[in-house]
Amino acid sequence: MSRIVIVSNRTPGKGPAAGGLAVALRKVLADREGFWFGWSGKLTDQPSTEARIEDIDGLEVAQIDLTRDDHHAYYAGFSNSILWPSFHLRLDLATIESHWYEGYRRVNAQFAKALAPLLKPDDIVWVHDYHLIPLARELRNLGAKNRIGFYLHIPFPTADALYAIPHHEELMRDLSRYDLVGFQARRDVAAFTEFAEHQAPSTFGGHKAKAIDFSGTAVEAFPIGSDPEAFAKLSVSPAATKMIHRMHRALGDQRLVLGVDRLDYSKGLPQRVEAYEKLLANNSRLRRQVHMLQVAPPSRDTIKEYQETSDTLDAICGRVMGQFAEPDWQPLTYVKRAYGQPSLAGLYRLARVCLVTPLRDGMNLVAHEFIGAQDPEDPGVLILSRFAGAAEIFPEALLVNPFDTDETAEALRIALDMPLDERRDRWRALMDAAMAHNVDDWAVEFLDGLAPDAMAETRPSRDMLYLASVA
Ligand code: F6P
Repeated sequence: MSRIVIVSNRTPGKGPAAGGLAVALRKVLADREGFWFGWSGKLTDQPSTEARIEDIDGLEVAQIDLTRDDHHAYYAGFSNSILWPSFHLRLDLATIESHWYEGYRRVNAQFAKALAPLLKPDDIVWVHDYHLIPLARELRNLGAKNRIGFYLHIPFPTADALYAIPHHEELMRDLSRYDLVGFQARRDVAAFTEFAEHQAPSTFGGHKAKAIDFSGTAVEAFPIGSDPEAFAKLSVSPAATKMIHRMHRALGDQRLVLGVDRLDYSKGLPQRVEAYEKLLANNSRLRRQVHMLQVAPPSRDTIKEYQETSDTLDAICGRVMGQFAEPDWQPLTYVKRAYGQPSLAGLYRLARVCLVTPLRDGMNLVAHEFIGAQDPEDPGVLILSRFAGAAEIFPEALLVNPFDTDETAEALRIALDMPLDERRDRWRALMDAAMAHNVDDWAVEFLDGLAPDAMAETRPSRDMLYLASVA
């Protein structure tokens, strides 16, 4: 059986894996031979030319160091100040410094140079996320003939946002060098197809780029999931129960409205707190009856737009406190740090409502984890943005437009007043969908699609899209 080589910007660290994805991919590598390849987390004066191979908790991990300048241009620059905002349709927050592209390409070339000598001819290579779009082309330039797949963990942009990205045409050409490109949601496949079928308009000078041939690239939605049954177990573990007791002591009979997100402008945090503010303003009976807890660990905090989001959130939370707090009652708690999964599982289980209201999101695994952690006899209600990939698989959540804070405030009221029978019925359907989309099946399906004989075997039977050459 072929080895599996997983490539991502960050590699799994020592100790228990933090996220469902890391757990699932570890499982892939426990069942099959292979290794994980990525950045070591170290910044050095000289870039590594060879990878260091380490055994991390039984997993073979090959890592390279990056120089500080390259890392800045590749990670904070091109990946997170250009690709991230553009893919999330926030061109207003993008910083278009096209010279970062050189660092982005240099790091991808460095990844390829260090990875290529480790590859055997029949290894299957699975590349993750927007940091590494050019990797297949760089590997192919070095002679790699392996099956190479790419999975995007964030949304794919609409054509207009794509055109605003410097060198977007080259990036699309890079994608055409993968055998399989996987997206989170059908909307992402549609956006990609829209570009592939019509391609970029000519740029200044009337120059028309040669059309890209996608005929060798299969494109499909593989909605990622979590391990809802593991979360169900975790939610009754001693650590989760400890958190539940702690919160019971603090909250008494108040119902908990919970949000858990990285502190990122795509998560719609200011709009969410504003919706909660409207709930309290419109429904005075709910004051002292509810409490909002927003957990928001800081993220990418060297980037100005992230600092500004953090400041905006501080101001809005302060405003809500100033308006509604009493000497003996606080409407909300805002915690800017990360919690382990057992504590989060306890918070999810206790919450009457979970607000997952990103302005745009690839999937959003908080929604999956919240569902997994519910008490089937007394489940909470999920309020979900219709712009999260998760909305395609969880229609029984209360779906909202997160930009419309009146609508989210009303959804909050409905959720808090929802009768137990309806909460149970909705949760059952959500749990069935979460189990049908579990992360183990996700990994197996992607790798089945990437297997050497997959193209021939799957073409007539599976719902994969092969884009005809338009050259
Ligand atoms: O959602 C995309 C993603 O890159 C995840 O894969 C990752 O866990 C998260 O964003 C955090 O990103 P960073 O590595 O920049 O902290």
